[in-house]
Amino acid sequence: MSTREGTPPLRTLLVGVDKRAVVSLDGPWHYLVDQPPFKALYNERDGSVRDNGYALNTHPNISTDKPHNDEYDFATAPTLKVPGDWNTQEPTLFRYEGVVFYQRDFNFEPRPNTRTFLHVGAANYRSFVWLNGKHICDHEGGFTPFDCEITAVAHSGSNFVVIAVDSTRHQDDIPSVSYDWFDFGGLTRDVSLVTVPAAFIDDYEVQLEHEATFTLAGEHKVFGYVHVEGAPAGTAVKIRIPEAGISTTASTGADGRAQFSAAAKSLVLWSPAKPHLYKVTVSSGADSITDDIGFRDIRVSGLKVLLNGAPVFLRGVNLHAEAPVRGGRADSDADVALMFRYLQDLHANFVRLCHYPHDERMERTADRDGIMIWSEIPLWQHISFDKPAVYDKAVVMLHEMVRRDKNKASVILWSVSNETPNNPVRTSFLTNLANEARRTDPTRLITSALIGPHGSGNQMVQDDKLMDALDVVGQNEYIGWYGGKAIDADTTQWTLPQKPIIMSEFGGEAKQGLHGAKTERWREEQQLDIYQHQFVMFSHIPQLVGLTPWILFDFRSPGRNIPVLQDGYNRKGLVSEDGKKKLAFDFMSDFYAKMPSSASGWSSSTASAK
Ligand code: GCU
Repeated sequence: MSTREGTPPLRTLLVGVDKRAVVSLDGPWHYLVDQPPFKALYNERDGSVRDNGYALNTHPNISTDKPHNDEYDFATAPTLKVPGDWNTQEPTLFRYEGVVFYQRDFNFEPRPNTRTFLHVGAANYRSFVWLNGKHICDHEGGFTPFDCEITAVAHSGSNFVVIAVDSTRHQDDIPSVSYDWFDFGGLTRDVSLVTVPAAFIDDYEVQLEHEATFTLAGEHKVFGYVHVEGAPAGTAVKIRIPEAGISTTASTGADGRAQFSAAAKSLVLWSPAKPHLYKVTVSSGADSITDDIGFRDIRVSGLKVLLNGAPVFLRGVNLHAEAPVRGGRADSDADVALMFRYLQDLHANFVRLCHYPHDERMERTADRDGIMIWSEIPLWQHISFDKPAVYDKAVVMLHEMVRRDKNKASVILWSVSNETPNNPVRTSFLTNLANEARRTDPTRLITSALIGPHGSGNQMVQDDKLMDALDVVGQNEYIGWYGGKAIDADTTQWTLPQKPIIMSEFGGEAKQGLHGAKTERWREEQQLDIYQHQFVMFSHIPQLVGLTPWILFDFRSPGRNIPVLQDGYNRKGLVSEDGKKKLAFDFMSDFYAKMPSSASGWSSSTASAK
């Protein structure tokens, strides 16, 4: 079942919405649960979406003078907070995966020569949107934003919006039916109204020019484009970066894009040590956006990842978008600030946002705090790689991810998948997707997290053909947890490609506060023991440019069902879900603290991690 057949694809996706003055629709929304078989949303006959159901927001006829009508009423229904998942707000919906209808009223005054969009930061998984009873758009994908134009259907005074969100899983979805995290459903990120001039900027890219070679000293070029929607070719655009002495103009071509390139003397390049952001204003006609953008160069040279020309070691960790302590989908400044406090305590300069694009606040904070980011689309393990329609869906998700964050200096890696089965159909699918990512954004590195090295005894051979399409290879392994003993890592020998390698997942589970022998699972000592032996193994991998242990915080996952030890949580966190650090956290933090920030790889100073 896909989003509505024949529905025209969304017209645009607004870049830099969080830098625009918007009308927030966050807050309490009425909700009604449409339990299976979801009759309020889907026609029982053919599964098509009903426009004549709850979308009309009618109220029950009480007087018998009027005919009996649909039995629902948003006006008297309870509310859920938006943004927010429904699972952790309403106990009866904790394990609910299905359809929930959201509704709220809002006042609106149309302004002449303007257009208005309903912007949704994300909604998991499928969304169907009506305004004043008119269908305006649908969206598939739980972790990327979408914009729906309401100009034609919004009117002066009170308006109402109805959004049906369906978090049901399907084989051909991305991710598919099985994944190791909690299926938080709902309007999980900010919702707002964005009014722009009739001719407006819906997309722009302002980056350091990615030349064939990079030299730190001397002049650098800032390049990119500004896309103006609804304006004729030849429309003027202006790009100003006062602090860098840049003020340049360009004009749009037939495709609405105005390309530009401007020289900048002595740019302060963005890096974790100096996360400098410039005020960048792009304007055209009556429209203007001022964004905060850092300029940096990221590339591979041999076995090294170079940031602004210098080799860098990625001191990272994995992170799900689950709010520490509070629980539920992370969706606020407070949630993000707390996560970054732990990243700071870990002395991290890098984070893998897994396995899907997170709230844009993560990238904004990483830009400001100087944390580099691996961003990924949720092609997690088994996906319908044999279906062209699923490939098209993956491309849309990739484009949405890149479009939202391409101006974020912190984002250095785009990942197209995690732990997918090594077979020719999958490899061709992901190779095409990796090349599409590189075509879409040639300024960043393309990666994927691989599993399944083969080999025997202590030999680990990674020869997955997908690596040919990657700039940096992520390797997941769980020596000492899912296989072997912790100590086996000491003698494990890896055969890896001559490419920069990130150990993108490793570790084991521990229930925080549970102590015992290092031969007892789910004890902090055993988790620590796994880490200590991993570091012996890492010191034998010359291609290693980064680490992202699995994972910063324990996180909800329905399949983790050992009472007391797990209680529905994956316990591989370095920190418990309520924010308590485990022994392995201190081990990682000490190790990262000792690593000189200029470290580019394993060196003697790191060897003594034991
Ligand atoms: C996998 C997977 C994660 C999962 C982890 C685990 O490697 O990528 O999503 O949570 O292993 O099993 O804990």
